[in-house]
Amino acid sequence: MIETKLGNIFLDKCFMNASGVYCKNLDELLELNNSNNVGAIISKSCTLELRHGNPNPIYWDDGKTVSINSSGLPNHGYNFYIDENLTSKFTKPYFLSISGLCIEDNIKIVEESIKNTQISGIELNLSCPNVIGKPQIGYDFEVMDLILLEVNKIVNIRKNVDKQFNFGLKLPPYFDFSHFDKVANIINKYNIDTITCINSLGNGLVVDYESESVVIKPKGGFGGIGGTVVKPIALANVRKFSELTNCDIIGCGGISNGKDVFEHILCGAKAVQVGTQFYIEGIQVFERLENELLDIMKEKGYNKISDFCGKLNIIN
Ligand code: DHB
Repeated sequence: MIETKLGNIFLDKCFMNASGVYCKNLDELLELNNSNNVGAIISKSCTLELRHGNPNPIYWDDGKTVSINSSGLPNHGYNFYIDENLTSKFTKPYFLSISGLCIEDNIKIVEESIKNTQISGIELNLSCPNVIGKPQIGYDFEVMDLILLEVNKIVNIRKNVDKQFNFGLKLPPYFDFSHFDKVANIINKYNIDTITCINSLGNGLVVDYESESVVIKPKGGFGGIGGTVVKPIALANVRKFSELTNCDIIGCGGISNGKDVFEHILCGAKAVQVGTQFYIEGIQVFERLENELLDIMKEKGYNKISDFCGKLNIIN
């Protein structure tokens, strides 16, 4: 009922984790792999070298509506995530999230990762808001174009021998139509299979009223905003990029129940990733979301995702 395709890769379920949530360590990745309700897994965004990340506290949420994080890319270094001793353990499609600190790092990680035939694809993260002194590439269209040009060349080496390999991007939220057009025009120059919309809404600030303090430590309290509050922005980005590109869209942002999943798919998402709600609820979230989505589909008379994917009604 909820099988789907991303590029040429088949997923038996339309659910994934959002990169960053419970996907840094082996036990976390295996828990995702072993879930009956998850269709594919994605790693924590990796860098060239191991990183310990920002000082605690780095995460806060109010239980549902708003989360804020500034982890600072803690990860074991890309070698950990592309090691065949790790990737051979996975039975589901496995995507590597890459967030190199400069163009050269991204190129090196992509070059090395395409050698591992057990990796189903990459999600190039152009939208990490939390590394001090490093602006989000997704908001610098010239640099974005340059990186995509180089990465596309390398990925095509793998695609020439493996049509299944998936080249994906993770983008920040955009707000202006002119920016959607500019980014889509860049993306459409390359051989990109998927776009994940959206990363957290960068550099928000949450205040604790009682203590009159920020709630996380890094960057004086600034961090990426997630939770149900970002859903309308996520839906707008899903909708726009599904209209403006031929990429398969992975919806991410504000998903806490089956209705949210349904809305993402209605706006054009072929699969969804869950971040804040996965963080709050743990692995069980995927079983609940699947059951809730199946109930909605049954009630509305839909048998498969393509019955309603992108079929949002507009008012004339
Ligand atoms: C981190 C946050 C992000 O939103 C992201 O895309 C990558 C990394 C982090 O703080 O670790």
